Amino acid sequence: MTNRRASVVDALHKKYGPVVRLSPNELSFACREAVRPIYGHQTTCIKAPVYEIFGRPSSFLMRDVREHRQRQRRIAHIFSVTSLRQMEPLVQSVIDRTVNTIEMRASNAVDTLHWCRMMALDVAGEVLMGRNFGAFDGEGQAPVFVKYLDNAALSYCLQAMAPGLFRLLGLLPLEKLQSFLASSRNVYAYGQNAFDEYIKLNGRTSARPTLLTKLIAGNPEKGIEPLSDEEITVEVSNLTFGAVDTTSITATYALYRLCCHPVWQTRLREEIRKSRPSRDDFSYTTLQNLPILNAVLVETMRLHPPLPNGLLRETTAPITTIAGLDLPAKVRTVTQVLRDGHVLTRYRRPLCPCRRGPRRETQPASPTRTRLTRAVGSTPTAPSIQAPRSRTT
Ligand code: HEM
Repeated sequence: MTNRRASVVDALHKKYGPVVRLSPNELSFACREAVRPIYGHQTTCIKAPVYEIFGRPSSFLMRDVREHRQRQRRIAHIFSVTSLRQMEPLVQSVIDRTVNTIEMRASNAVDTLHWCRMMALDVAGEVLMGRNFGAFDGEGQAPVFVKYLDNAALSYCLQAMAPGLFRLLGLLPLEKLQSFLASSRNVYAYGQNAFDEYIKLNGRTSARPTLLTKLIAGNPEKGIEPLSDEEITVEVSNLTFGAVDTTSITATYALYRLCCHPVWQTRLREEIRKSRPSRDDFSYTTLQNLPILNAVLVETMRLHPPLPNGLLRETTAPITTIAGLDLPAKVRTVTQVLRDGHVLTRYRRPLCPCRRGPRRETQPASPTRTRLTRAVGSTPTAPSIQAPRSRTT
């Protein structure tokens, strides 16, 4: 809850090596060989019990492998490239609003995290809930839904770490406390309300290009029935939850890193200008082939993983052997993703000079660095600047 878990675990790995026992039944790994047995396709690990606490069951939270596979099968079509391309005009309209808003305020300091969050929120609203959140209407004031999101994340953490205390707090007749505890219910109530309104306005067979429309329709071509209305509202609420902070943190840090490196800003701008036939063509087809843009985003996520605490899993069968350890069933495992861990990637030397880590010339160069260097020459240096504080996701 203090937002320090990732750095504390990172420090423990530095002191004790690639395996750290975080609690009697929980191991943290900071070695590449742990990734495949814990997260790979053939893994026998499942999501840890803590996923049951983080809201109502949807594809994000389902622990049972068969149930999860079935759910993924039923929603996969909405994430196909064809489907996502149809969302581009909606996304573009929100991006335009974001750029206009930031440009209007550019003569003063701009709270980039706030506006990136508003951007991610309205994109999620448009494509998942069929209406935006009016995130740009509040003159810098976030819609109340953001408060629900923030409080829900905190209350889930409290529930996970101190379930007894959480239940006790639920009994106290304090209005503010009860509204805090109700925040996750409010997230789902919002989703339900958006869904009901959408059906009232557009019916069930609308041609509106949203992911919600596609969820409501199912995938008749493949004989896939739509989910029930309740399942859809939970799915879109949880997807909104999962999409907003991940995207906005990444966008904010990418902008921050570009501010640290004006040379890269220029190079990126040139790359985009050259590749784009018209102002309105920021299509996936164009953007996916821009090496500098993609390298900047990958490097940003390496330096600032939006989910720095890692993804907790549980073994369902014994695993032989990770980092010299044999694991029995029912052990909780997590891998360390924080940048300083480095060990999960082949990256040994951070690209961004603001974050200089130990320099190890003998190690292989970062693929991101290599791609960037190949594309535009050697890496420029920049003065060290204090990084913004990461949000909890
Ligand atoms: C930079 C942005 C994002 C990052 C870093 C990110 C990260 C992740 C991670 C780490 C997982 C695995 C979660 C777990 O196993 O517990 C995940 C799963 C997923 N994410 Fe994202 N995500 C991002 C944006 C989005 C967006 C915008 C959407 C779309 C609404 C989305 C939809 C999903 C879905 C559907 C899953 C699979 C859930 C499942 O079936 O297990 N993500 N994402």
